[in-house]
Amino acid sequence: MKSDFLWGAATSNVQSEGAYLEDGKGLNVYDTLVVTPEPGIAPMFCDTSVATDHYHHWKEDIDLMAEMGFKAYRFSIVWSRINPLGDDEPNEKGLAFYEQMIDYLNEKGIEPVVSLVHFDMPDHLMRKYNGFLNKQVIEFFDRHVEVIVRRMKGKVRYWLTYNEINYCIGMPDLVAGVIKPQDMTEAELISQLNTNVLIAHSRALETIKRIDSEAKVGGMIGTAPSFPLNCTSQDMLAAKFKNQMQNYLMFDVMTTGEFPPYFANYMKQRNITVDYSEEEQAVVRSASRKIDFLAFSYYQSAVCADKPEIKDTVEKQDALIREKRGPRNPNLKANAWGWQIDPEGLRFLLNDFYDRYKKPLFIVENGIGRDEELVDGKVYDDERISYHAAHIANLKKAVEEDGVDLMGYLAWSPFDFLSSHKEIRKRYGFVYVNRAFDDLLDLKRYRKKSFYWYQKVIRTNGEDLANDIDY
Ligand code: BG6
Repeated sequence: MKSDFLWGAATSNVQSEGAYLEDGKGLNVYDTLVVTPEPGIAPMFCDTSVATDHYHHWKEDIDLMAEMGFKAYRFSIVWSRINPLGDDEPNEKGLAFYEQMIDYLNEKGIEPVVSLVHFDMPDHLMRKYNGFLNKQVIEFFDRHVEVIVRRMKGKVRYWLTYNEINYCIGMPDLVAGVIKPQDMTEAELISQLNTNVLIAHSRALETIKRIDSEAKVGGMIGTAPSFPLNCTSQDMLAAKFKNQMQNYLMFDVMTTGEFPPYFANYMKQRNITVDYSEEEQAVVRSASRKIDFLAFSYYQSAVCADKPEIKDTVEKQDALIREKRGPRNPNLKANAWGWQIDPEGLRFLLNDFYDRYKKPLFIVENGIGRDEELVDGKVYDDERISYHAAHIANLKKAVEEDGVDLMGYLAWSPFDFLSSHKEIRKRYGFVYVNRAFDDLLDLKRYRKKSFYWYQKVIRTNGEDLANDIDY
């Protein structure tokens, strides 16, 4: 791997910080939304007031990252910590908090990679304006971005405009602060919200570039490539549609500045015209010429099958979009939450994206959620080690054998925090945080076995992936 490859890990601050209403922070959508459990999982949601207390442990957490040898660390600036309501003035204490964190990362030689929206829209913007469905919220977001970038200029090189922007469709409330209006169809929501978040992304990108011409800006999506269940044209078509709407749409627009034909046709077939002014289109086009890289999360692959009982194309497509989890892949194992583990799927996706976009790619999330127990101060997470080893082996093949331009690999995650469904049972960290579902215990940090393994991987620039750690 090239010597400046960005090895490290990533977190979502809204899921880790806690300090819920401290130092002027306002409530955000992650704090207030009632989450729906994942299919087949009994709900055990934590409240977010303490999470894993990263707000008070941030220095110790970064010291542990430095000990692992991180070259880069991705985190998010919680929107409601900077703008408690969203339509108000910036909160100096919030800005100062992230600035000291960024300064400390730079001091430690760890490149900060900053995400600007990550499930953290101020709750007030959802309740009063209906989030990104309202164009005023795009203005508030742009102002928010401007304040942050002016403050951090020269200290942050890599920016991600919007975490998993494409999931604004599957989870409009958490991802975009939107509750579907009753007088709007699903398809209208899909069309307008996709348009609006793309404008928000483009405005943010333009603002960052205007303030700091040295900054590198990327779009970020969540991925799960859909494979056809059977080798039939019908399943292939179904999977193609799913991939277009879920994995390609955002990157297609971000890199060309135009709606791709399949999306224009999606709207035409449903007689939908979106509110998308000439001026907004010009911003999206302009941003598409400046985007530096494409970032994505990858945890699993998916399977898609035709629905032969539905004859009408529009109805079939709508049903495919609504399907949250397709058929099981008979070739793959899954974790306890049913997420299908597919390391070769990552190699496939890297090739697929690189062929299509010819832009540097950046893996900014990849990991496995596990229910873990601390025994005598230790966590033997060999399953995590195998998961990362297999994925790293495949990204290396994509780079070294297939010629993909990959900037870095950020694992999910450096330390434990609450899952997007507010679960502490589903842990991702290389560092264990001692808290339980209903008891905060002492929130002490413990190095898991994978901590030492990942330290070795980074030290050897990805050459030595063997699980031979003496723990
Ligand atoms: C991504 C998000 O969807 O996946 C993260 O960007 C999230 O915030 C991660 O934590 C893993 O998902 P989950 O639901 O297991 O937390």
